[in-house]
Amino acid sequence: MHILVLNGPNLNMLGIREPEHYGTQTLADLENMLHEEAVRLGITIECCQSNHEGDLVDKIQAAYGKADGILINPAAYTHTSVALLDAVKAVSLPTVEVHISDPDSRDEFRKISFIRQACIATVKGKGFPGYLEGLQLLVKHIACGGGR
Ligand code: DQA
Repeated sequence: MHILVLNGPNLNMLGIREPEHYGTQTLADLENMLHEEAVRLGITIECCQSNHEGDLVDKIQAAYGKADGILINPAAYTHTSVALLDAVKAVSLPTVEVHISDPDSRDEFRKISFIRQACIATVKGKGFPGYLEGLQLLVKHIACGGGR
């Protein structure tokens, strides 16, 4: 089983960026943690981060026929991007949305998630461990034969 892990804009600034929301660990720490979990689960993962909406769309499209599922933190594009929603719908791969903080308990504009309607689950407000939970959920869903 192969999973694409996508992180959106400003998540390359983890460790520096708003530690009260995102903690002090870096993106490299997060990706190392996910690689270790992938070994434990007996799967492979590819981790990517981009600040550009079109790059994220390209990555999702490129996953078609290659990955079995997608774990994505679309970051600010969660709240703005119909293009990411449409990309996930286009490839029809099981997708889990993850957020480090709980966007629903922050600014009003963070309560909207466009991508959510195309996702099998959302994990939010659990810090980095939320990515592990999201990955485990996704793997279980795919192993049980679940589609999108
Ligand atoms: C975030 C929450 C978003 O509202 C924000 O724009 C981010 C990060 C999170 O992981 O908590 O960049 O997705």
